[in-house]
Amino acid sequence: MVIWLRKSCITLMLSFLECGEYLVLALEQNKLQIFMVKLDVCNEPQTESEDFNIPEEIVNGTNKKLSDYLDTCLVSLKKKRNLNQELPIGLIYLFPRDEVDLEQRYPAGLITTVNDAVAKMMSCRYREPACEVDLIVDTGGVCYMEREGNCRTCGKVEWGTLVNDGVLSHLQTEYNKQLVSDAPTPSKQCFNKMSTLSPQLHGAGLAAVIDWMLNECPARTGITVGVNGQLYKTDPNFSQCFQKTVVDLSLGCPVTFQALSYGPEIGTALVTAVEKRRTKIEKIENLLKPLQMSEKILQEVQARMRQEMERGLEKETHQCAFLKMLPTYICSKPTGNETGEFIVLELGGKNMHIVHVRIGGRPEEERSPIKETYTLPQNLMKGTGEELFDHIASCLLDFQKVHNLGGNKMYLSFVFPFPCKQTALNQGCLIKWTKGFAASGCEEKNVVELLERAIKQKRELNMTVIALVNDTTSTMMAGCSKHNSCEIGLIVGTGTNACYMEETKNIQMEMENMSGQMCVNMEWGAFGDNGCLDDIITDFDQEVDVSSVNPGKQRFEKMIGGMYLGQIVHRVLIGLAHNDFLLSNLEPRENLLELKHLCLIEGDKLSLVEVRSVLLKCGLNCALDEVKMVKIVCRAVSTRAAQLCAAGVAAVVEKIRENRALDHLKIAVGVNGPLYEDHPNFKDEMESTLKKLAPCCTVTFVQSDSKGKGAALISAATINAQTNQSTK
Ligand code: GLC
Repeated sequence: MVIWLRKSCITLMLSFLECGEYLVLALEQNKLQIFMVKLDVCNEPQTESEDFNIPEEIVNGTNKKLSDYLDTCLVSLKKKRNLNQELPIGLIYLFPRDEVDLEQRYPAGLITTVNDAVAKMMSCRYREPACEVDLIVDTGGVCYMEREGNCRTCGKVEWGTLVNDGVLSHLQTEYNKQLVSDAPTPSKQCFNKMSTLSPQLHGAGLAAVIDWMLNECPARTGITVGVNGQLYKTDPNFSQCFQKTVVDLSLGCPVTFQALSYGPEIGTALVTAVEKRRTKIEKIENLLKPLQMSEKILQEVQARMRQEMERGLEKETHQCAFLKMLPTYICSKPTGNETGEFIVLELGGKNMHIVHVRIGGRPEEERSPIKETYTLPQNLMKGTGEELFDHIASCLLDFQKVHNLGGNKMYLSFVFPFPCKQTALNQGCLIKWTKGFAASGCEEKNVVELLERAIKQKRELNMTVIALVNDTTSTMMAGCSKHNSCEIGLIVGTGTNACYMEETKNIQMEMENMSGQMCVNMEWGAFGDNGCLDDIITDFDQEVDVSSVNPGKQRFEKMIGGMYLGQIVHRVLIGLAHNDFLLSNLEPRENLLELKHLCLIEGDKLSLVEVRSVLLKCGLNCALDEVKMVKIVCRAVSTRAAQLCAAGVAAVVEKIRENRALDHLKIAVGVNGPLYEDHPNFKDEMESTLKKLAPCCTVTFVQSDSKGKGAALISAATINAQTNQSTK
């Protein structure tokens, strides 16, 4: 016995947001009806239609003639209705597919062909997402949604053929047999010719489909069936008897029947809308392909990072290496016995944080840190170094005054999140600015001297710099107080960077013969500046780089840092607009989307309408279904960022494991930055990728605020060590 099961290739991508205008051609034996359908998210669909008679000679003529005729009808309708725009076309067939070749005459994606039963079924789905089986009673046939992996595809059971091979002939009455032999195609569609007479046979057929669906997904708690067809609607005896048979045969699975209210043109318009979006998404996915990182590529990135780390550490190669692997002069983790009162100053991209921290001491002396945030006028980032440091000193003075700290000399930990070549804990020359800073007269200068000079000029300011600290280092130190195996610091904020405890003897360029460990500031943002990532760098990255203040520099950072992700998304959106997929009014403009916007867009806290208004505030005016595309783009960009970051961390943990000749390493990473803390997907994506890339390491991430405690601990440890020295 053969029943044809056809997959209609309509994977259920209905978002219930389908909108727009469509032309639907319903082709019958000698009539063509063209519908103009307007779908709207909030209102009922609108339809108007025009009929065209198909002349006898065309009905009996060649396929080409029929297609030409359909084309002529379309052209005349467009003219009459003044339709200048190319509207997507849906074609409902009552014939096998290859009878007309209209599709070949239109650009790919513009025309979608839909079987009439599927069209009717989809119209049921228009406002009734629960419908999973649809039955057309008069022409016969049933469609249902079949699961295939994560997708659900509409399958059409061609049950009309069920009796053709004689298998149900014992059920055929003389009358049936007569009907079959009198028909124009006697041996075809025998089941339909029987079952229209028998609601019970329809019921049995449907029950078999329900049974199949239950087998596929036993956890189902019920099934909604949409039913269409004159016989069902007009003959109450038929519908009653049919429903009873289904219920009796469906063994307790609750079945709800839903009479269809929309015509097949609505279903066809829907399928056309979905299809249009699917082709669009496919093209978008193609455009996004270069952003996709396979596990193999990520392993390659990890291996290259490892190689660059070695080059940065080795004496012979350090000079020309791009990963600077800078010694920090921090040789131990906090012991927990540190005490003291400190000022911590942390310079950020837009703000500056000043914190007064008291650590250790008697419990009654403990108090929570006092913290102030000062804005950093953006012109100072690109002005002169003197102006920048003078502003910093003014803020310190304000802090001292406001919090009444002018009495004793205060020790200052300067968290300076830029690459510095340190010669001691409190001495270091800025190698180069990153993250959009470009203040003149600072590069290659000792930044501690620059700050102290500015401090001296504010006579009342009573502070001295005791430690110059990178933000990765202060993050690692803060992490140590939460997790004793914290030996890595990771920043995923405006920029990105990592530090870790390296065996001092491996830091060959500086301290070959020393023992113990020292924290190394990797400055991994510069990974790729020698071209070693050129094969994964996309055109979008290239554009972001070229328009930055430091072209060619910080290539890894520019694929991960929050300062750049919005810019990459923006470039991709421009690419889509140029290909007519999206937002045709988009023009290049800097900083359209900031990290905080990306977090909102990609997360699931906001409805699509709310996300659309976020985008509008950023200057992007898009339709509701385009919001989904923007979300897809954001996801691709942030996923790549998280995966690349994981490849970096994997290289570090693997190096530490090998340094210690361990089969398995358990380690914690102190991590700080809004990408980890606020982004809806970054954290999970990074952690899961890391598990795959470094299977021999168990890595715990400890979220630790870099502002304050970590930097204060470094200063405290230094003072305690100095005091111990002088008392020896
Ligand atoms: C940039 C800086 C680096 C810092 C990182 C995170 O990459 O060069 O020193 O740690 O940003 O803020």
